[in-house]
Amino acid sequence: MRKKAENCTIVIFGANSDLASRKLFPALLELAKRGHLPDNYLIAAVGRAGLSSEEFRSIVTGKLVNSSPAIAHDQFLPVFLERLRYLQADLLVPGDYQGLRRQLEDVSAAGSCGSNILFYLSIPPGIALQVVRNLGSAGLGGRQARCGGWRKIIAEKPYGTDLESARELNRVIGEVFSEDQVFRIDHYLGKETVQNILVFRFSNGIFEPIWNRHFIANVSITISEDFGIRERGAFYEETGLLRDIFQNHALQLLAAVAMEPPVDLAADSVRDEKAKLLRSIRPFSGDEVPLPVVIGQYEGYRSEKNVAPGSTVETFAAVRLFVDSWRWKGVPFYIRAGKNLSQTMTEIVVTFSCPPQNYFGPAESCSYTANQVVFRIQPEETIAIRFGAKRPGEELVTDPVFMKFDYQTSFSEKGLTPYHRLLLDALEGDQMNFIRQDSVEYSWAIVDSLKAMLKERVPEPYAVHSHGPDSVQELYG
Ligand code: BG6
Repeated sequence: MRKKAENCTIVIFGANSDLASRKLFPALLELAKRGHLPDNYLIAAVGRAGLSSEEFRSIVTGKLVNSSPAIAHDQFLPVFLERLRYLQADLLVPGDYQGLRRQLEDVSAAGSCGSNILFYLSIPPGIALQVVRNLGSAGLGGRQARCGGWRKIIAEKPYGTDLESARELNRVIGEVFSEDQVFRIDHYLGKETVQNILVFRFSNGIFEPIWNRHFIANVSITISEDFGIRERGAFYEETGLLRDIFQNHALQLLAAVAMEPPVDLAADSVRDEKAKLLRSIRPFSGDEVPLPVVIGQYEGYRSEKNVAPGSTVETFAAVRLFVDSWRWKGVPFYIRAGKNLSQTMTEIVVTFSCPPQNYFGPAESCSYTANQVVFRIQPEETIAIRFGAKRPGEELVTDPVFMKFDYQTSFSEKGLTPYHRLLLDALEGDQMNFIRQDSVEYSWAIVDSLKAMLKERVPEPYAVHSHGPDSVQELYG
C-alpha cells in the first residue's frame, strides 16, 4: 500500500504541449480519481497567454475529451477541474518569475510559506536551461525552499540536445536543486512490461546463468510505430528520431536487459548498474565499413506541417552496437526504431546460440528454431520463450514454438499508465525509475559519437508502412 503523497502544488511549464494534452492531464485526472493525489493539491499551469483559470479549465476539458470522449460524462471531472489554476508568466522573462512566486504563494495549497511544489518541465530542451535559471533567481529552487516545504522538478526528455548541453543543464539544475530533487523522466521506465524485465531477470534462477556472451548470440530491440510525427513537425525538425527515441527509450531498454544485478533495490543501486552499462557501450568511431547504422526518412515527411521541404531529419534508425563488458563482449545489440513503419510494436528479442550439433536439419537452419526470450513491451504485454519442437508426422524435423506469459490473462489487476506511476513515484520521492545525471550523459556520449560518425549523411527514403530502408538488412549480416 502506497503512502499518500504530501499536500503540494504541481506546477506545469508547457501545459499546452502535445505531451501535456495526451499524457499528463489524463494521468493527473486518473491519479486524482483513484485518490492517489494528496488531499490538498493544486495543479497550476504557467503560460504567457493571460488566460483566466476558467478559460484554462475549458481548454483542458477539450483536450481530455479529445483524448477520451467518455471523460465528458465523468462525474469526477468538475472536482478535478476545480483544482486547476492558470498562472501568467513568460517563461523566458526572468522578471516574471517574481510574479510567479507571488502567484504561487497566493494559490498554494499549504499557505504561503512551507508549501511543497513539484515543477514539471514539459518544454523544448532549448529553453529548459533558462527556465531553471529563472526559477533559481526567483528563489523558487529546491535548494531555496523555506520553512520545511519541499521542491522537486521533473524534467521531460529530451534532456538537452547533446552531451554538452545536457552537461550544462545538469550543472545549472545542480545549482538550483539537489540531485535527490531532480526527476529526469523517461516514460518507458514507467511501463509495467519494462519494470518487469528486472523482475524476470533477477527473481528467477534459471535465466541469469545463461544471460551472457557464452550463450547469447545477439539482442535486438525494436520500437516501431505505424504513425508519423503527427502534429509535431517543429519538434521533430529540431529533434529527429535519434534524440527523440534512441537516446532515451531505446538505450534504457538496453540498460534494463543487459545491466548487472544491483546490490539491492535501492534507487541508486539500480541506477548505478544502469549507468555502468551505458558507460560500457562502445562509442561509434566510423572505422567500420559499411557503417553500423542506417538512418531513414519516411516518404511524405517533408510535406508534413512545420517541416522544411528539404529536411534531412531522420525518422528511422537501425544501429548495431557493442557493450564492452565482461558479460557482453562481442555480442551484437541491434536497435531499430522508426515512425510510419508497418506496425506499432516495442519488443526485445534475446537470441541464444545454436546447440553445438544440429541433428534435425542443415547447420544453417539453426536460426529457424534458435532459442529466444521475447519481451513484448507493447501493444501486447507478453514474454515468450521460443524453442524447437518436433513437427507431428513421420519425419524428425523441428519447428519453432512458443511458451507465452501474457499480463492480460495471468493477472486480473490492471496496471497504472506510465505517467500515472511515475508522477506518483516523483511525489513520493522514489527515483529508481528516473534517469540519473551520469546516465543521461553517458547516453548522450553514445548519440554524439553516432551523429559524428554519420556526419552529413542524408537519411534514406522509405515507404510508409514498410520495414524501413532496404539497406537495413545488411546491418544484420
Ligand atoms: C515519446 C516520443 O517519448 O514516446 C514519441 O516523443 C513516441 O515520438 C512516444 O511516439 C512513444 O511512446 P509510447 O508509450 O506511446 O510507445
